[in-house]
Amino acid sequence: MKAESNADHIFHRELNRDYPVIDHGDGIYLYDTTGKRYIDGAGGVFVTNLGHGNKNVVAALAEQAGRVSFAHTNDFNSTVALQFAAKLIDLAPAGFAKVWMSTSGSTANETAIKLARHYHLLAGNPEKTRVIARWNSYHGSTLGALSLTGQPKRREPYEPYLLNFPHIDPPYCFRCPYGKTPSHCTFE
Ligand SMILES: Cc1ncc(COP(=O)(O)O)c(C=O)c1O
Repeated sequence: MKAESNADHIFHRELNRDYPVIDHGDGIYLYDTTGKRYIDGAGGVFVTNLGHGNKNVVAALAEQAGRVSFAHTNDFNSTVALQFAAKLIDLAPAGFAKVWMSTSGSTANETAIKLARHYHLLAGNPEKTRVIARWNSYHGSTLGALSLTGQPKRREPYEPYLLNFPHIDPPYCFRCPYGKTPSHCTFE
């Protein structure tokens, strides 16, 4: 796995490991600087599901970058945001009408927590503040999303900062936390 020395300026997840250095990607493959090819089986973290170097995606990114880089939602709407939101609502199940755009899964979940809080404040339920999550779940790395994440190893170092959300067991029939089997389980 050694491709280049870890004496670089990246704050790596593991400080004593040398990571292969990816130079480019093509479809399902990644290529490092030595020319070694990898199958990107997980699609990054499930985010490159249209493949690396997809010509349509590259063209759309270049087109947009040449058109406008940023228009703050504090003051503006934008053509591309309007189009994207309309398309997403088109694809969404009945009942969805509005889109909030976010920069990551963690911030999307943070926003969902805040949106639920805001809803209950407006609905006259200020005491409803807790969000129920499941053990084993992953909801993100920021403190609010980590408060939902149900993976003890990821939570432990930051426990003093985490919000007090209750966790329940996942519906995990293969290793049932209650010792049930699917054919003898009466849990709703
Ligand atoms: C289910 C789920 N929620 C949230 C996240 C966090 O997303 P991000 O890494 O973009 O913050 C992930 C990321 O893998 C995820 O799989």
